Amino acid sequence: MASYLVVQISDVHLTVDGVLAPGVRPRDNLVDALRYLEKSRSRPDILVLSGDLANTGDPACYDDLRALLAEVPGGAEIVCVPGNHDDRAAFRRHLLGDGDGDAPVNVTRWRAGLRVVALDSSVPGEDFGVLDPETLSYLAAELATPAQHGTVVVLHHPPLSSPIEPMAAIALRNAADLRDVLAGSDVRFVLAGHNHHPSAGALGGVPVWVSPATAYRADVSSTAVFRAVPGSAISRIDLTDHGDAATVVPIGPADGP
Ligand SMILES: [Fe+2]
Ligand SMILES: [Fe+2]
Repeated sequence: MASYLVVQISDVHLTVDGVLAPGVRPRDNLVDALRYLEKSRSRPDILVLSGDLANTGDPACYDDLRALLAEVPGGAEIVCVPGNHDDRAAFRRHLLGDGDGDAPVNVTRWRAGLRVVALDSSVPGEDFGVLDPETLSYLAAELATPAQHGTVVVLHHPPLSSPIEPMAAIALRNAADLRDVLAGSDVRFVLAGHNHHPSAGALGGVPVWVSPATAYRADVSSTAVFRAVPGSAISRIDLTDHGDAATVVPIGPADGP
């Protein structure tokens, strides 16, 4: 077996002027997160960006993000998947440089024997998530052949509930369909975002990690109302031959080694 480090950056919510709300500067938070990667001695094998990358799907934000990601050191394989705040067509054209069209953005990348399958759970015009039949078939076809060191699945909408009721209401609507496709496969972790708070769970026995956001944090003590508070974090997922672990890494201007 081999060890892999996956770093997950989620819910960046870039805006054209870098400001999301008074005192909330998502671009600065992203730059701080990328700076952490630079300073850290652990170089990720895979860098995952799990959706809500631009707050209103503005093409200029994807151009900016693409330029920032080009500077990431260490040759990590970079995997991006859209969320409910993204615009599929702009995401595909300006971030991925992968032509036009608003079909689901489903992508598979490899790092040695590890496969990463990123699935588009966004539904244009909606905040909740659905994996449509085309996307589920894509995943099933990928998983039909096992990978030497297993598979990580990435999507924006968690297939788990949230204690924050408004977030639970806009989770992945067809988590059972995902569970059925994962059954008996080599998937060792499902990574999601969207909630702006970390959660760990399982779907049909497969571990699920919901990453915190870089843009801002959801206050989980407020369950009836979504309450945004300052705070920025990324996740590191260590995949080893003796077990896998997901860890929150707080990010701030003063953080990092
Ligand atoms: Fe978000
Ligand atoms: Fe979201």
